[in-house]
Amino acid sequence: MLMLGIESSCDETAASVVAEVDDPSRPWQIRSNVVASQVEIHREWGGVVPELASRQHIRDICGVVERALSDARVTLGDIGAVAVTEGPGLVGSLLVGLSFAKSLAVSLEVPLVPVHHLAGHIESLFLEHGPLPLPAVVLVVSGGHTSLYEVPTPGVYHLIGRTRDDAAGEAYDKVAKLLGLGYPGGPAIDRVAREGNDRAIDFPIARMTHRDRNEPDRPGRLDFSFSGIKTSVLRYVRQAAGRRPQDTGSETSLSRQEIADICASFQRAVVEALLDRTFEAASRIGARSVGIAGGVSANSRLRADSQARGAHMGLPVFAPPLALSTDNAAMIAAAGLRRFHMGVRAGWDLNADASLRL
Ligand code: KG4
Ligand code: ZN
Repeated sequence: MLMLGIESSCDETAASVVAEVDDPSRPWQIRSNVVASQVEIHREWGGVVPELASRQHIRDICGVVERALSDARVTLGDIGAVAVTEGPGLVGSLLVGLSFAKSLAVSLEVPLVPVHHLAGHIESLFLEHGPLPLPAVVLVVSGGHTSLYEVPTPGVYHLIGRTRDDAAGEAYDKVAKLLGLGYPGGPAIDRVAREGNDRAIDFPIARMTHRDRNEPDRPGRLDFSFSGIKTSVLRYVRQAAGRRPQDTGSETSLSRQEIADICASFQRAVVEALLDRTFEAASRIGARSVGIAGGVSANSRLRADSQARGAHMGLPVFAPPLALSTDNAAMIAAAGLRRFHMGVRAGWDLNADASLRL
C-alpha cells in the first residue's frame, strides 16, 4: 500500500509517498519527501503573509506532487490512498492542498484520509523510530502550537497541556525579529545562542500553577505561557539600548555579544519551561517514553537537554530527524496510514478547518 501525503497548512508545499511494509519494527518507509519552502518570499515581510502563501501553493502544488511521485519511482496509478492536512493552519493555504488531494482521490477512485496537522507531527516520531514504548508523552512544539499529548495507544492523542498564549516557535520568531536576526527566528536564535552566556540574564517564565478559571476541569500546571518572556526580552532590549521605546523596531544598538547573551538566556528559559512540563507530565502518567516533535524540535538545545533529562530519569526520548521536524508531507502520509487502518475516510464534502482541534 502506497500513501500519497499532501501538506499545505502554512508556508511549505509538501508531498510525499510513504509505503507500508511487512516489518513490525519499522512499518512505514519513506519513498519520497518533497518540500517547496516559501521562506524567501515571506522573509521580506518578516513573517508569513497568508495571501502570498496561498497563491504560491497554487503555483507549486502540481510540480511538488509530480516530483514526489518521480522520486518514489511510481505513477499515480500505484497510489492506494491520499492523505491530506485538513487543519489547523491558514485557511487559504489549507484549501489548496485539500482541493488538490480531493480532486486526485476522486479521479483515481482511491480513499481520501483527512489528517490533523499535529497528529502528523506526532506520527513523525513513529515514522522515524517505529513503535514507541507506550504510554508516551509527546511535546508538539511549532510556530503555531505548543501542546502536550498523552499517547496511550497508537493513533490516540489526549491533550494534557497547551500554551495559554504564544507558541514557543512564535516567541522565537518575535524575539529574533526584535533583535534584527530575521525570519524564521528559531534557527537564527539557535545559531547565535551558541556564542552567548545562558546565565547572563534571568528572563522569567510564567509557571501556570493555578487553575484556569476558563477551563476549571483541567489543572493548569501543565500549561505553558510564552508571551511574558517575549515582553521581558523587549523591555531588556529597550533598557540595554538606552533608547526610547520603539514598538516595531528591529534595529538594536546592542553589541554582538549582548545579542548572543540574550539569545542564550532566552533559549535556556524557553527550553527549561518546555522540558519541566514535559517531564512532569511523563512522571504523572507513568510514561514509558517521551517524544518531541514539530519545528522547534529542530532546536539543538532542546534536543540535547531532553536527552540529558531522559537519561537522568531513565526514560527514552525520541525526536524526529531534522527533515521530519519542520513541516513535511511524510508525516501526513504516516498519520494517514494510521487513520486509514482505523477506518477513517473523508467524504467528498471535506472542508478545511483553520482551527481544527486534536
Ligand atoms: O512545525 P513548523 O515547521 O511549522 C508550524 O507548524 O508552525 O514550525 C516552525 C517553527 C518556526 O517558529 C521556527 O522558528 C521554529 O519552528 N524553528 C526553530 C528551529 N527551527 C525551526 N525554533 C528553534 N530552534 C530551531 N532550530
Ligand atoms: Zn507544523
